[in-house]
Amino acid sequence: MTMQDEPLLAVDSLSVSFDGFKAVDDLSFQINRGEIRVIIGPNGAGKTTVLDLICGRTKATSGSIRFEGRELTRMKEYDIVRAGVGRKFQTPSVYEDLTVFENLEISYPRGRGVFEALLFRRDRELTDCIRDIAEMIYLDQKIDEKAANLSHGQKQWLEIGMLLIQDPALLMLDEPVAGMTVNERVRTAELLQRIIQSRSVLVIEHDMGFVEKIAHQVTVLHQGRIISDGSMEHVKNDPKVVEVYLGH
Ligand SMILES: Nc1ncnc2c1ncn2[C@@H]1O[C@H](COP(=O)(O)OP(=O)(O)OP(=O)(O)O)[C@@H](O)[C@H]1O
Ligand SMILES: [Mg+2]
Repeated sequence: MTMQDEPLLAVDSLSVSFDGFKAVDDLSFQINRGEIRVIIGPNGAGKTTVLDLICGRTKATSGSIRFEGRELTRMKEYDIVRAGVGRKFQTPSVYEDLTVFENLEISYPRGRGVFEALLFRRDRELTDCIRDIAEMIYLDQKIDEKAANLSHGQKQWLEIGMLLIQDPALLMLDEPVAGMTVNERVRTAELLQRIIQSRSVLVIEHDMGFVEKIAHQVTVLHQGRIISDGSMEHVKNDPKVVEVYLGH
């Protein structure tokens, strides 16, 4: 089996407890290359906690997370980022006083030392890369605009751009279309289709119309456990899922 055939991410029997409360309980799932996987589930199901575990913000109580042959549960948060896992939080966190260009520029990964930062010059290659990403996230006309002047949806796109410039193999997005207009949601779905030409995406989302449009595979979480997993068509018709969503 070559590396290309292996799943990009393999989560196996992952659990975490907070003071005895199992927020994530024996979770297993995989993400293939070029796949969009969506995690859905009611509030408090443990969805954000799964992202916290993968990006190393929260330490697992047990289980494993394999990413391109490496064990993430043993790695520090910044090493996981450098290994190729990008994560967007529930609320956008762009630098309001900086322009779109500058927000992308400061997100470009450089040498970690002070001297490398001082020696860094804005070269042609980086400028081209920033322009390409700005175009991809529909902000090429806004490239010199301060982030403060963008709409909420445009800020969400900018934050996705700030992750793309780090060239992650796996992009994790927590509720990316929350607060977006209908038109912005359509364009975000199109953006994700372009992103997966060369990457995989893990999305948490409540908007079922959006999930239906983008998901290859859907994982349904409830009280920290997977209650259903498969195509949207499959989980939508799963009686366990229907029960959870109707609240009985
Ligand atoms: N660091 C932590 N310490 C203690 N409890 C936590 C911690 N992180 C999450 N929890 C608890 O774990 C449960 C799952 O929370 P999580 O944020 O993962 O849910 P979620 O599915 O993302 O919900 P939402 O849809 O509202 O965003 C909640 O009961 C939450 O209070
Ligand atoms: Mg959440």
